[in-house]
Formats: sequence, C-alpha cells, structure tokens
Amino acid sequence: MLVLGIESSCDDTAAALVEDGRKVLSSVVSSQEAIHARYGGVVPELASRAHIEAIVPVVEGALSSAGVSLDDIDGVAVTQGPGLVGSILIGLSFAKSLSYVRGLPLTGVNHIEAHAHAAFLMDKGEDKEPPAFPFVALIVSGGHTTLLLFEDFTRYRILGQTLDDSAGEALDKVAKLLGLGYPGGVAIDALSREGSRDAITFPRPLLGKGNLDFSFSGLKTAMLTYVKGLKALPVDGLLADLSASFQESVVDVLVTKALWAVEATGARNLVVAGGVASNSRFRESLQAIALEKGLKLFIPPPGFCTDNAAMVASLGYRQLGAGKLAGLDLNAKPTWEGF
Ligand code: KG4
Ligand code: ZN
Repeated sequence: MLVLGIESSCDDTAAALVEDGRKVLSSVVSSQEAIHARYGGVVPELASRAHIEAIVPVVEGALSSAGVSLDDIDGVAVTQGPGLVGSILIGLSFAKSLSYVRGLPLTGVNHIEAHAHAAFLMDKGEDKEPPAFPFVALIVSGGHTTLLLFEDFTRYRILGQTLDDSAGEALDKVAKLLGLGYPGGVAIDALSREGSRDAITFPRPLLGKGNLDFSFSGLKTAMLTYVKGLKALPVDGLLADLSASFQESVVDVLVTKALWAVEATGARNLVVAGGVASNSRFRESLQAIALEKGLKLFIPPPGFCTDNAAMVASLGYRQLGAGKLAGLDLNAKPTWEGF
C-alpha cells in the first residue's frame, strides 16, 4: 500500500511516499529556515504563507522523485497536530482536497507519535530490523520532550514529558543568548565539538529518582545567570566550552530519563527521535549506554529525526490498516490532549 504523507505543523513543508509503512520511495522537505532566521524563531503568520507557496511543488517533487503518479497512491496521511494552527491547516486542507478529488482514504496523525514511527523507515535498498514491541520512545523536538511506551503500532501511553521548556527550545534559546544564530540546536552541536564538556558544571534537573518528567527552564536560567556574571559576551574558547557544557547537561538528563523509562517498563527496545536526536553528542552517548546496558537502540538517520513526512506516512499506513479513517470534517488539533 502506497501512502502519501503530508507534514506542515511548524516551519517545514514536507511530503513523502512510503510503501507498506516502511519503504521510503521519496521524502521531500522544504525548509523555512531562511525566512525565520532574522527573527530568531518561527513567526507563525510567515510560516503559514510559506506553506501555501510550498505545498504543491513539494508534493509534486515527492511524486516525481518516487517515479509515481497520483494514480498510484492508495491513501493519504496528514499531520493533524500538535503545532501551529495556521500551518497545520495548509497541509490538512491540501490532504482533504486530494482525498476528496481522488476518492482516497484519509487519516490524521499526531506529529509526536509520528516522530517515533520514523524508527520503522527504510531508505531505498535498505533492509533494517524494526523495533520490537513493547518499546520506549523518547521524542525530543523543538516543542516537545516526551517519553512514550508503545505497546503496538497505534497503542501507546505517555510516561512523562516536559513541565516547561522542551530540550530543543532550551538549546535554541541558549544559542540565541550566546549569539549563535538560528536554528540553535544545530549551531550548538557544531560548536560543542570544539569545546570541553566538563569546563562548566550546569545543573542536571532530574526532579527526583525515577521521575520521568523533564524540566529544562532552570537549566536555561543557569546559563543566563552565568553569562550575566561575565564582563563581556563569551567568545572563542569560552563560547565553545559553554556550548559543550550546556549540551552535555541536556544530553545527560535525556539519557538518564530514557534509562529510567526502560527500567520502569522492562522494555528492551529504545527509540529516540525528533529534531534533537540528530545531535551528534546525544547519539554518541545513547549508543554507549545502549551497549553497556544491552539495549536495542533505534535512532533514525538525522533526515528522519527532524521534521519530515515519511514518518507521517508510516504512522498513517498503520492507522489506515486499523480502520482509523477521517472524513472531510477532519480538523487541526494545535493542542492535543495529553501532549
Ligand atoms: O522535530 P523538529 O525538527 O521540529 C519540531 O517538531 O519541533 O525539532 C526541531 C528542534 C529544534 O529545537 C532544533 O534546534 C533541534 O531540533 N535540532 C537540534 C539539532 N538539529 C535540530 N538540536 C541539537 N542538535 C542538532 N543537531
Ligand atoms: Zn517535529
């Protein structure tokens, strides 16, 4: 079954064609980075307008790069939320129109849940073992830091999530404070390679042994306090040290909580996805701990960690198979109960 996935919940317009929930025939992402960079964050109205301009060429690009036509598609999956309402509505309206005109089954997916399904994706020619149920999924994106326990493809429960800022948000805000530009996570990742992660000890907010929720705003404030105490804005070596030390405390908290979740549930498979999962130090740290603890770790390649539509098509395929069909009254869910 060939599913067209459509994603427009934040600042990326994406379309992908995925066969049977796993084989990626194409995945096209149009980034709005250049539009939002001068504001240091996503401007919702500009994001919606850019989605309107990009959605048709992006879908056309996905079709042509997969070498298929609209006649070959068996179903349409679209991100319904959580995210920016104006942005979601562009993808949603497009998907509904296509489903109506072509008589195709339609399903609306949860963006965070879809991030976990990126672990099932296989690029052209790849043959990968999928994660086995039950598995713990840690989704770390710009808006969410969430631990989920998947019992089946479409059955999961929330184990914990952030009480304030997400890890991505903390990285982005600290990068802005340090003058590293936008998007901040990527800049911190790159600069940290030149710094020492032990140079400054930032707090590790764990909220008590076994607690699976997260809190990153205090950590961000610790950086603000540190920088305010300096005579001038940090440059060169100190800037790299600050970046590496801050990144290390974020990574440490994320890895510790993922382990706690695995211990609490008895799951032996761990999926880590979302934009921050493309961070090189985070990936390295997870791999080391998985090896030490004998866990099976699944981290999608960076292109499937950041926002994409292949993960949407993958989850959509499972939902369509489970009969979770949407009608033309499918609406955006900018806030999603529980998330
Ligand atoms: O999942 P995603 O692409 O979009 C959302 O659903 O939010 O995640 C975006 C987040 C941003 O905070 C961005 O700074 C962060 O992922 N990010 C990274 C890296 N690449 C993207 N953070 C750290 N290191 C990276 N290499
Ligand atoms: Zn995302």
